[in-house]
Amino acid sequence: MPPGPRMPRGLQTAIWSRQAQWLLQESRARFGRMFTIKMAYEGDWAVLSDPELVKQVFTGDPCVFHAGEGNQILRPFLGDNSVLVLDEKKHIAQRKLLLPPFHGERMQAYGEKMSEIAGREIESWPTGTPYKLRPRMQAITLEIIIETVFGVHAGERMDALRSALRDFLDLTTNPRLLLPALTIGPDRMTRTRAFRRRVEPVDKLISEEIADRRAAEDLAEREDVLSMLLLARHEDGSPMSDAEVRDELLTLLVAGHETTATALSWAMERLTRHPEKLERLRAEVEAGEEAYLTATIQETLRLRPVIVVVLRRLTEPVELGGYELPAGVSVAPCIHLIHRDPQIYPEPERFLPERFLDDPPGTYTWIPFGGGVRRCLGAAFAQFEMAVVLRELVRRRQVQPADPAPERPFRRAITETPRHDATVVLS
Ligand code: HEM
Repeated sequence: MPPGPRMPRGLQTAIWSRQAQWLLQESRARFGRMFTIKMAYEGDWAVLSDPELVKQVFTGDPCVFHAGEGNQILRPFLGDNSVLVLDEKKHIAQRKLLLPPFHGERMQAYGEKMSEIAGREIESWPTGTPYKLRPRMQAITLEIIIETVFGVHAGERMDALRSALRDFLDLTTNPRLLLPALTIGPDRMTRTRAFRRRVEPVDKLISEEIADRRAAEDLAEREDVLSMLLLARHEDGSPMSDAEVRDELLTLLVAGHETTATALSWAMERLTRHPEKLERLRAEVEAGEEAYLTATIQETLRLRPVIVVVLRRLTEPVELGGYELPAGVSVAPCIHLIHRDPQIYPEPERFLPERFLDDPPGTYTWIPFGGGVRRCLGAAFAQFEMAVVLRELVRRRQVQPADPAPERPFRRAITETPRHDATVVLS
């Protein structure tokens, strides 16, 4: 294995769960473009910060580079059928079923609903007082998923579902649970009472919704993801089972909600520290232009990627970067370090949407959504949603930071969020 910090495994795990970026940057400075960090439960990770090595991993044989195995920590929450926790044939089979509703052009169908939800939410925000945007961005992304993915609209079941999903999500994003989950592993997690209390109500509501929807007369005309999954067929012609549908719905919820809300919070945290860029964005949005908005989203995801590494566990020995890595360890393309490489991005610490105006992001140098056969299924959905919400916000409100100092990243389970939840003052 490449060299790496000599601290005991437990200490490295503890630092990882609180100060991942620090650990990555220090190790990169000391050991170079490939180094090893050691995690409790998860084993050894060879962290990669060279686009050429990242390319080899993303284009490598999915039977050798197992991403599902690297995501086992999510299995208790998402279930055994989740596209995130599967590998090889089973992974491809689920991914094929999920892809059609997430095709780029399909997003248009969701645009109007998204604008309406964002506009309504933004209109309810108070002006003239410090206000945390992150919880509100979560409210928007949750509402958007309930409407567009679950296809559940205003009414009693929506209220019950919203509150059960909120509880469930708090469990998956609670920073205090990361260390125990990394230490005891996923299976023992599911037996804890706190866990079952939050998962059972969600399962009940989802199974009611699936039963009603299977029987719905307008199933074929509906545009939500759940309805499309119920109509989707495996290669042998069989429909998805209730358990499969349940697991994928929760996967889309967990993968798509917190991530997009965090990215939106960072976009506003960064923009409010650069009022001239916020003004430019507003002017271009008013003029009906898209380019600066797109570049702002790309730059936000570069400078503040929501997830700092992706993992692939090796099923057999692999030669990479001059090392013969053994089976059983993981390779970790490092989003955080690639995005801060001054050779790829001059002045990497600066927030400069302009850098993407002429040069579109590179496949292996801009990787906020990972890559290869595991690239984020919701990448188009997330960027489309971010554009809708930012457009609605800059059109409707002036936004200033509550405190001019930048907010530092804070680790919440899997994502890195603004430490003060992107606190702003609206007018
Ligand atoms: C800004 C928001 C988002 C970010 C930063 C993000 C990031 C990621 C990353 C890094 C991965 C792992 C890729 C890899 O291992 O190579 C991933 C996978 C995934 N994401 Fe996203 N995501 C976002 C939004 C969404 C949304 C909105 C959805 C769906 C509604 C979604 C669904 C998924 C799914 C299903 C996978 C698993 C794909 C597979 O294993 O084949 N994500 N995402």
